[in-house]
Amino acid sequence: MALLTCKDVTLGYEGMVVTENVNFSIKHGDYLCIVGENGSGKSTLMKTILKLVNPLKGEIITGDGLKQKEIGYLPQQTMVQRDFPASVSEIVLSGYLNRCGLRPFYTKGEKRLAEDNMRKMDILDLKDQCYRELSGGQQQRVLLARALCAAKKMILLDEPVSGLDPKVAREMYELIYKLNKEDGITVVMISHDINEAVRYADKILHIGSNSPLFFGDTRDYVKSGIADSFIRTKEAE
Ligand SMILES: Nc1ncnc2c1ncn2[C@@H]1O[C@H](COP(=O)(O)OP(=O)(O)O)[C@@H](O)[C@H]1O
Ligand SMILES: [Mg+2]
Repeated sequence: MALLTCKDVTLGYEGMVVTENVNFSIKHGDYLCIVGENGSGKSTLMKTILKLVNPLKGEIITGDGLKQKEIGYLPQQTMVQRDFPASVSEIVLSGYLNRCGLRPFYTKGEKRLAEDNMRKMDILDLKDQCYRELSGGQQQRVLLARALCAAKKMILLDEPVSGLDPKVAREMYELIYKLNKEDGITVVMISHDINEAVRYADKILHIGSNSPLFFGDTRDYVKSGIADSFIRTKEAE
């Protein structure tokens, strides 16, 4: 059974349809990349999966034992967030907040796992530093470690490398790839870089302005030619 199934979903906001007929499913261990033009509804889809936004029609069903709170999320970055005045370890640990309930502290186990996640992201030596003093690439690794604290099974990443230089972006992609292949974490990533998307992902969802253009295996996506026209358009700019 799929971890998550999106069935005949219409995405949008009160009185405004963004995209219709969204149908796809995600299985355990998948690496799905969501691509599409700006404003096509990629971030809205992620927020709908997280239940931060309601679908206007259709439904999103979780299965295979996946609980809503086992989904980690790395939101699209804004300048305000980049200036957040807290230490690296405070931010990573805050990934546990919605599991704490009314408990006003983190358990030893949570602290140990937070350290493990910081080690995985190679930021353990930065743990007492202030987040806003870090480089863009380091900040994204902190947020990824945070998302991993929240996630046991699936992480949703909204343009995790935007604003990073190509070398740092590549390192970030490699880290995400390792999480998927070595730790078995299901990855759903929005990417504006179609070349990188087809390099790493096993599955592609391409959202157009009114409805999805493609959902399926990356290999079939490349064969379909949809990617070609998209890449050509980008080069022509
Ligand atoms: N909170 C909101 N309320 C109303 N409209 C929104 C909101 N957030 C985004 N939109 C609109 O929904 C459309 C899709 O946005 P978004 O999902 O952010 O696109 P993408 O991530 O693909 O660039 C855009 O037209 C955007 O202006
Ligand atoms: Mg977006």
